[in-house]
Amino acid sequence: MYELDGQQRLTGTIGDIGTSSFYPAHHITMGEGGAVYTNNPLLARIILSMRDWGRDCMCAPGQDNLCDHRFDKQYGELPVGYDHKYVYSHMGYNLKVTDMQAAIGFAQLQKLPSFVARRRHNFERLSAALQPVRDKLLLPEACPNSMPSWFSFLLTCQEGVKRDHVVSALESKGIQTRMLFAGNLLCHPCFDRLRVSGAGYRIIRDLANTNRIMRETFLVGVYPGLTDGMIDFMAEVITEAVR
Ligand SMILES: Cc1ncc(COP(=O)(O)O)c(C=O)c1O
Repeated sequence: MYELDGQQRLTGTIGDIGTSSFYPAHHITMGEGGAVYTNNPLLARIILSMRDWGRDCMCAPGQDNLCDHRFDKQYGELPVGYDHKYVYSHMGYNLKVTDMQAAIGFAQLQKLPSFVARRRHNFERLSAALQPVRDKLLLPEACPNSMPSWFSFLLTCQEGVKRDHVVSALESKGIQTRMLFAGNLLCHPCFDRLRVSGAGYRIIRDLANTNRIMRETFLVGVYPGLTDGMIDFMAEVITEAVR
């Protein structure tokens, strides 16, 4: 939720296109996959095309000749009358979800309000429990005018606190942690060759915050299945590790 021009808006409704991911660790899941949404009919058509190999044809799977011009138009440098079902107007992908995924997603959607509430509750509880060590760890806070449904609880070690020590304390107690995923992308082996040649990308300023996040930041989950007891245990282990 976000407040824009005095109005409360859901994040996916801001801008021309919204996206959601339905990976298992996320707010709702379909196993894998995600969704793209827009209220712009032209963008919707382009998005559907890109999902569907880049096809120009808008017929649903199993449907034929909705436009009644399947064999009588000319596109690109194709011969006149080339089957419109196999005309590609974009460089696309095959990103269709299956019916089974959709069924899971539909059931998950009905549980979303309770998931959102529980994620907020878990976040608030962990945040309150970690206030006494806020000189050791930078605690996450919502941006002004926003009311997030938190994905996770992001912690950045302050000077004198070793991330490796805190992370291994948590992991050794069966509490999963993650870095802030890739950190600084440019430091990864996939950039080795580009880094040597110095070509292929450019950097704006010194990436100080990105590098800090790469070195000092990690996260723990706030997923709805966590009980108050589990959250309190996480807080205890973190507190002990930083002291
Ligand atoms: C699509 C997708 N795959 C994989 C991951 C990484 O998850 P894990 O660390 O559980 O492998 C994420 C993280 O959010 C993700 O969004």
